Amino acid sequence: LNNGLARTPQMGWNSWNFFACNINEIVIKETADALVSSGLADLGYIHVNIDDCWSNLLRDSKGQLVPHPETFPSGIKFLADYIHSKGLKLGIYSDAGVFTCQVRPGSLFHEKDDADIFASWGVDYLKYDNCFNLGIKPIERYPPMRDALNATGRSIFYSLCEWGVDDPALWAKEVGNSWRTTDDINDTWASMTTIADLNNKWAAYAGPGGWNDPDMLEVGNGGMTYEEYRGHFSIWALMKAPLLIGCDVRKMTAETFEILSNKEVIAVNQDPLGVQGRKIQGNGENDCQQVWSGPLTGDRMVIALWNRCSEPATITASWNAIGLESTISLSVRDLWQHKDVTDNASVSFEAQVDPHDCHMYVLTPQTVSHSAV
Ligand code: DGJ
Repeated sequence: LNNGLARTPQMGWNSWNFFACNINEIVIKETADALVSSGLADLGYIHVNIDDCWSNLLRDSKGQLVPHPETFPSGIKFLADYIHSKGLKLGIYSDAGVFTCQVRPGSLFHEKDDADIFASWGVDYLKYDNCFNLGIKPIERYPPMRDALNATGRSIFYSLCEWGVDDPALWAKEVGNSWRTTDDINDTWASMTTIADLNNKWAAYAGPGGWNDPDMLEVGNGGMTYEEYRGHFSIWALMKAPLLIGCDVRKMTAETFEILSNKEVIAVNQDPLGVQGRKIQGNGENDCQQVWSGPLTGDRMVIALWNRCSEPATITASWNAIGLESTISLSVRDLWQHKDVTDNASVSFEAQVDPHDCHMYVLTPQTVSHSAV
């Protein structure tokens, strides 16, 4: 969407994956505090996004949305002011239907009122869900909220959440800043890998202003191993997915923090070229030794060697397969070990990868030194 936002994928936190409906203003404030004190905010995680269940069960007598009086007694403007005072941005949630998925009031046919009230509260981001949609096509229900947000004059990031049901990659570039390509993620290896493959299909449609969204991160929620979470984070970064943390950042382990705070992997995600990397090897049904890659600025490439098999494997990325001339010589930097592996790789690069682990590298062309003639 050409609203000046999302030049790179959005980064931040969302309440749903860990808290579901158990949210309140204290959790949101403490999360903002933790993003700042941990240093994650400085690394780019600036959106603090409240998901479903923030609102009261009914609109007020004037038909306006109201925050739940017990869980958000100080109101959303108060929270937005607090979050802005920390240098962060506040996101909220509604639904392109008559109710949200948790049966709070939806915004369908209330787009102008709701966009106006969000803007008046100082909201910076709207996630817009797809429940109770009366069977009306997404392409009819999502643009009215875009127009209503635009008409407020406030800069509001617009995140479409229609779960990929109507192939939003094909039409949402003019509608939103990101669009979900799949059903909800859950905190399992099977779910995460399935979603990665589904999102991969739409790689050609992502770019600055509008990103494919394979759903929020599960890193730190406990259902996968350290290696599996490292793969999850690596592949989401490479796919230019939104990096929205979905755990309780007030109580992260050191391992969780290490994954989420990897600056070199974040830099891949935030690379200004904005091209979604793809799976280029391992598409066969039983082909679990995978290579994913994509271009970066400065003629660099990122590659991920992702072992989705249950045995250790030596995975090879050949320059041919990733679209380079085989004679070219590249330096290779390991983004998880934080070290340069070689300054002189040609034809291919290979590494031994543990089961369900993922290595990630940046390949940089050697600068040719021209001797004086
Ligand atoms: C469905 C969405 O896909 C989830 O991300 C979450 O927002 C829930 N609805 C909330 O009810």
